Amino acid sequence: MKEICLAGGCFWGAEHYFRNIEGVVSTEVGFANGNTQSPTYEQVYTDTTGYAEAVHVTYDPSKLPLEELIRVFFCAIDPLSLNKQGEDEGTRYRTGVYYSDPGELETIRKVFGEEQGKYSKPLAVELQPLINFFPADERHQDYLGKNPDGYCHLPLKIFRYPKLVSDLKALLGDEPDPVARLSNAAALIQERMRFFWTGFYLVKDDELVLGPFQGPIACMRIGFGRGVCGTSWKENRTVVVPDVEEFPGHIACSSLSRSEIVVPLHDHSGNVTGVLDIDSTELSTFDHIDAFWLERLVNVL
Ligand code: SME
Repeated sequence: MKEICLAGGCFWGAEHYFRNIEGVVSTEVGFANGNTQSPTYEQVYTDTTGYAEAVHVTYDPSKLPLEELIRVFFCAIDPLSLNKQGEDEGTRYRTGVYYSDPGELETIRKVFGEEQGKYSKPLAVELQPLINFFPADERHQDYLGKNPDGYCHLPLKIFRYPKLVSDLKALLGDEPDPVARLSNAAALIQERMRFFWTGFYLVKDDELVLGPFQGPIACMRIGFGRGVCGTSWKENRTVVVPDVEEFPGHIACSSLSRSEIVVPLHDHSGNVTGVLDIDSTELSTFDHIDAFWLERLVNVL
């Protein structure tokens, strides 16, 4: 087992998120890298102790490599925001990765580099050795488990996705038939997330052809580079469309669909074999959180 301390804003939501991740063995919330002894929540709340609200994570690196854990962490923060996550403001809500084993620094730096590559502004995430950590008192441990309607700065979907991915893995097991796998994948995504349309298009010759799906009837063939699906295939990347009317060439299978996300599926050599397409009747339903977790989900397929 390995350990690391992660500060991701209010520790209630951060802990609830990490607890859901496959490979995380246990979590404890507390205060990291401050300059007093045995701080209380109330003292840290004054924002004068130097402490950050943090989650001490114990994980099994054979199931969850450190690299992936750091990416999972980045998915749940605004890495450009200094001392503010959601509506929570103050140095206690700063974001940070605090390691105990300097041998891990290279791996952590690599992920910081990947993340920095996504932005033109510098990351506001600290990367430091863990100097001290004091657990918060019992009422803060698993706070959202005990108080499911309690305050949380993170959106609900971020707690649902990790479970969806691990449940899908268990559900599909070693079933070899692709139609059976994709059919149950579409059904499970739909059952859990209640999107307007969830389905697969599969590459056949020079077109995408409709595969297993859940939702209203849909277009059956999409050309390479056409629409959102054909663009995702051509550019081999996840495409998030906040407003389908703003996407040139969008193919409207249903006039009710207003935003969508398309994630490419790959074979073992990295060739695109199809796409996962999800549609919503609301604008701006999908963001980097959906992209991150749906990319993990399609890896299970
Ligand atoms: N809107 C998609 C077509 C598929 S339907 O959304 C199910 C596109 O532009 O590729």
